[in-house]
Amino acid sequence: MEKRKPKVLITEQLPKEILAYINERCECIIPTNEGKMSRADVLEKISDVDGLLTSKVEVNEELLSRAHRLKIVSDISVGYDNYDVEAIKSHHVLATHTPYVLDETVADLVFSLVLSVARRIPELDRFVKDGNWTSAINESLFGKDVHSTTMGIVGMGRIGEKIARRAKLGFNMDVLYYKRKPSEELESMLGINYATLSELLERSDFVVVMTPLTSETHHLIGENEFNRMKSDAFFINASRGAVIDENALIQALKNKKIAGAGLDVFDQEPVSPDNELLKMDNVVTLPHIGSATKKTRFDMAMVGAENLVAGVTGKTPSYLIK
Ligand code: DGY
Repeated sequence: MEKRKPKVLITEQLPKEILAYINERCECIIPTNEGKMSRADVLEKISDVDGLLTSKVEVNEELLSRAHRLKIVSDISVGYDNYDVEAIKSHHVLATHTPYVLDETVADLVFSLVLSVARRIPELDRFVKDGNWTSAINESLFGKDVHSTTMGIVGMGRIGEKIARRAKLGFNMDVLYYKRKPSEELESMLGINYATLSELLERSDFVVVMTPLTSETHHLIGENEFNRMKSDAFFINASRGAVIDENALIQALKNKKIAGAGLDVFDQEPVSPDNELLKMDNVVTLPHIGSATKKTRFDMAMVGAENLVAGVTGKTPSYLIK
């Protein structure tokens, strides 16, 4: 008798090659429309599947208590703050994510934000397209140098390290970092220095937040931290919205405590059109595109698919969350 193929629930649109790879090995339930599967559909279909392949969907008790055969949840994402890790563990389900493949791409995006805020790229693009470039521009539209300034990286993980390399080697910047400490060898090879959070905030021209969202990093940067920053410094967040207190950021910008911000992530995503940050010329806003290049999103989906297939066929997936 032919062995039953494992059944998997896929909540995202996937490239056809990746879907074909999974289809060969599993029976797949996929979204019926163009977009992502709705939460209601996920909750309805989860009961008899062996695996879940998803991206940033909340995997919590509500979902797990309905899943009677689930062996693995595979997230196409490096950050896994959407997982209730304790609940997943208590249901004896494996959990995986997709680190490494996106590191350089996210570091590129961080630098796009740094350059955009410092040289006022979106604002001046609008200025030209609106027909306002009628004579030589004056000081009111000048920006800030990026090269040879100081960058402070809050969260020196794999992506932080890629950002530090760009800052040091490409832009001759001094780089400070706060947690986590890399090996001394790497620290001296990169020429970067550890600083306390206060010291980093006080000295940096560009503060870049790249730390994962955990209970310890929730609202790590709030009113006190923005108050410590230099008034001509820029704040960049490409990790998770809730690592900062968004209202404190809005107040810091309104009160000119800092010069501007570059944000790829928000407390609420998609961000509400009423969010005050969207109305500020000195704030560059993006729709959480850190890893969103064709190649990187393909690679992430492939890693996610491989993790899923390994988990439902009794093998050990590569990127297990401990
Ligand atoms: C991730 O994978 O966690 C990133 O936020 C994607 O941009």
